[in-house]
Amino acid sequence: MRLLITGAAGMLGQDVANAARDAGHDVVAFAHGELDITDPRAVREAITTASPDLVVNCAAWTNVDGAEEHERDATGVNGAGAGHVARAAAAEGAWTLHVSSDYVFDGSRRQPYVESDQTGPVSAYGRSKLAGELEVARHAPASHTIVRSSWLFGAGGPCFPATILRLAAERAELNVVDDQVGCPTFTGHLAQALLTLAEWRPQGVVHVAGGGACSWYEFANEIVHAARMECEVKPCSTRDMPRPARRPAYSVLGTERVGEAPVLPDWREGLSEYMAAKVSA
Ligand SMILES: NC(=O)c1ccc[n+]([C@@H]2O[C@H](COP(=O)([O-])OP(=O)(O)OC[C@H]3O[C@@H](n4cnc5c(N)ncnc54)[C@H](OP(=O)(O)O)[C@@H]3O)[C@@H](O)[C@H]2O)c1
Repeated sequence: MRLLITGAAGMLGQDVANAARDAGHDVVAFAHGELDITDPRAVREAITTASPDLVVNCAAWTNVDGAEEHERDATGVNGAGAGHVARAAAAEGAWTLHVSSDYVFDGSRRQPYVESDQTGPVSAYGRSKLAGELEVARHAPASHTIVRSSWLFGAGGPCFPATILRLAAERAELNVVDDQVGCPTFTGHLAQALLTLAEWRPQGVVHVAGGGACSWYEFANEIVHAARMECEVKPCSTRDMPRPARRPAYSVLGTERVGEAPVLPDWREGLSEYMAAKVSA
């Protein structure tokens, strides 16, 4: 299959491009500097020239706190930009595989969110990602899969485990919030799932996230433990650690599309693979 990947130098984009090449697909990968998805003409030209079977949109504004002050810019990428990609893909007869986020939910539930649950983002980033879902559905109504995932971590980018490993090496103790619960997702696992979805092509939204769920505190504890570090991890509340953007208190993703949504390994397995990749890097 011929795959065009946007945002290909990002944390997820790198893993998708590598996994696709390893699987024998013909890959056309564009980093941000090579293709800016906010430029509709450039997007159309890139997609028309490459004539892919499928476009994986990994390009996004991912600075959650920064989006609060720059919501227009974030929405330009995550909303309108996603729409440009979907429109050009549809015009070329290509399927759009778009990556979205658990932050489209408000986090008020205490049981896993499924695809048809009411969205209600509580941050500018969440609103921009929801705008992207609507744009993709509008411009490629019969040829898109929107993959909501959550709490991504991977070898190819700055991420929570990398931050915890750095801080744990510098400090004797760390305070980490224990009142936000979600599904850490290893990008190596998500990349494989995206390739599966490239074959299956379920229409609409599917939830794909690491198995199990935990708080950031539990995640940090597991990271420090896996690295056999001495640092003590202590739980604290979101109120003790104010950030510009609100996060959902609970954004565990479940699925009602059994058989259509690939099932990922438990997040702890993802963490083991992440640690192994770090050691061998
Ligand atoms: N990280 C998470 O925890 C998480 C959770 C759920 C869903 N997601 C979603 O997963 C996807 C991949 O995220 P990621 O974690 O891999 O983020 P990432 O590492 O920040 O990758 C995003 C890539 O998009 C590029 N980009 C930004 N603006 C662009 C534009 N206008 N045109 C083209 N490329 C642009 C970035 O380039 P620059 O760095 O040069 O700006 C970066 O290389 C995104 O859709 C994100 O919303 C992420």
